[in-house]
Amino acid sequence: MKGHRSIIEPFKIKVVEPLPMRTVVERHALLEHVGWNLFGLRAADVTFDFLTDSGTTAMSAAQWGAMMTADESYAGSRSFYRFEEVVQRITGYAHVIPTHQGRAAEHLLFSLHCKAGELVPSNNHFDTTRANLEQLGVDAVDLVCAEGNDPRAEHPFKGNVDVGRLDAFLVEHRGRVPFVMTTITNNTGGGQPVSLANLRAVSAVCREHGVPFLLDACRFAENAWFIKVREDGQRERPVRDIAREIFELADGCLVSAKKDGLVNIGGFIALRGGAWVADLRSRLILTEGFPTYGGLAARDLEAIAVGLDEVLDESYLSYREAQIRYLADGCAKVGVPTMRPPGGHAVYVDARSLLPHIPPEQFPAQALAVELYRAEGIRSCEIGSVMFGKRPDGTFAPAPMELVRLAIPRRVYTQAHFDYVLEGIGEIAERRAELRGLRIVEEPPFLRHFTARFAPLR
Ligand code: F0G
Repeated sequence: MKGHRSIIEPFKIKVVEPLPMRTVVERHALLEHVGWNLFGLRAADVTFDFLTDSGTTAMSAAQWGAMMTADESYAGSRSFYRFEEVVQRITGYAHVIPTHQGRAAEHLLFSLHCKAGELVPSNNHFDTTRANLEQLGVDAVDLVCAEGNDPRAEHPFKGNVDVGRLDAFLVEHRGRVPFVMTTITNNTGGGQPVSLANLRAVSAVCREHGVPFLLDACRFAENAWFIKVREDGQRERPVRDIAREIFELADGCLVSAKKDGLVNIGGFIALRGGAWVADLRSRLILTEGFPTYGGLAARDLEAIAVGLDEVLDESYLSYREAQIRYLADGCAKVGVPTMRPPGGHAVYVDARSLLPHIPPEQFPAQALAVELYRAEGIRSCEIGSVMFGKRPDGTFAPAPMELVRLAIPRRVYTQAHFDYVLEGIGEIAERRAELRGLRIVEEPPFLRHFTARFAPLR
């Protein structure tokens, strides 16, 4: 038979670990114990852990094998040179500085090259990028395109920067913008990709204004894959070429290797020019470690070196895209609305539409997240009025959206797992009218979603 064939997991499984199983009664008791906050759960009580795609990857036999042969020398380790060669080959950047994870790279670069009163635009800054800029007194400004703020728009590149606004911004704030950033894929906006055309336009505007252009590139391979399959004229190009062009358009990148590096820890800064390198390396020695390990064991550098090549395998990326799409389309089939189109690493359920009877002050997305765990053992993350619904003066303001993020670890769960998860989500959707909201009984002064305690409303 010719024609369409199923997209399958492009690996076989050599190491397994048991899927934790608890009963509904046990999970109910655990929820009472942790104050109905999923961050308080032990992972051993979670069957499907969709809290994050960061650092949760299953590594390959080749990665574990490379780790065994790592050279743990303090200075000049062979593993560093292997890692450096892979990053240079993929990005084309000459200078590679390892860090222990993405936010360490952010802190290092921002603390040396930004100062109070400056502004850094991006499509959307990720939380840690924003926080690392803001704690220096720098204004982190989001300039994502209009479609990026509309959960229903089917636009293929909702992570795009509004280039007209960027141009005007660089005119208005001339001399006060140390660099422009773009996050690929745009995590805050739903894991939505940025098109090559948009990256070319951002690059041209930055060059015209003489401002450096940096990528927050932790999901660069997923972004390059979306360019291949969604952008006119890119279909026939190897994804590796597309990735290389993306990096060529910028002056450097900050990377959390815990995503498309396919590892459990690690990150790096890579730069085309050498102007910033000496002071970055001096500060690195103060905060992370010697420049040939930067806060990592050499075995971690080996795992990243192998992971960065594995992630560019097109059968892997095609499966990765299909996996996220399968979950999103499956939600739609059981009447559960999600942010459209599905992004690269997560499915975002629109709890406001699903649970219109629960008002924002009773936290509909938290109610859904709690029920996903109670009934099905699924751990997700509320991105709604628990996370964003508190003004600095402590009063309540509803978040713009009430979302539940199901972030999917790489190479960990199979399609059978998703079928089971979707059956569970479908059953919850059928009895959605029974779901009730929650009230907060205890909360810290800031970042309350991590530690607040709730009580269910009856
Ligand atoms: N940039 C982006 C776009 C991210 O998504 C993250 C982490 C970071 C930077 C920071 O990297 O965790 O290695 O320090 N995102 C994780 C998430 C935490 O769940 O979305 P890190």
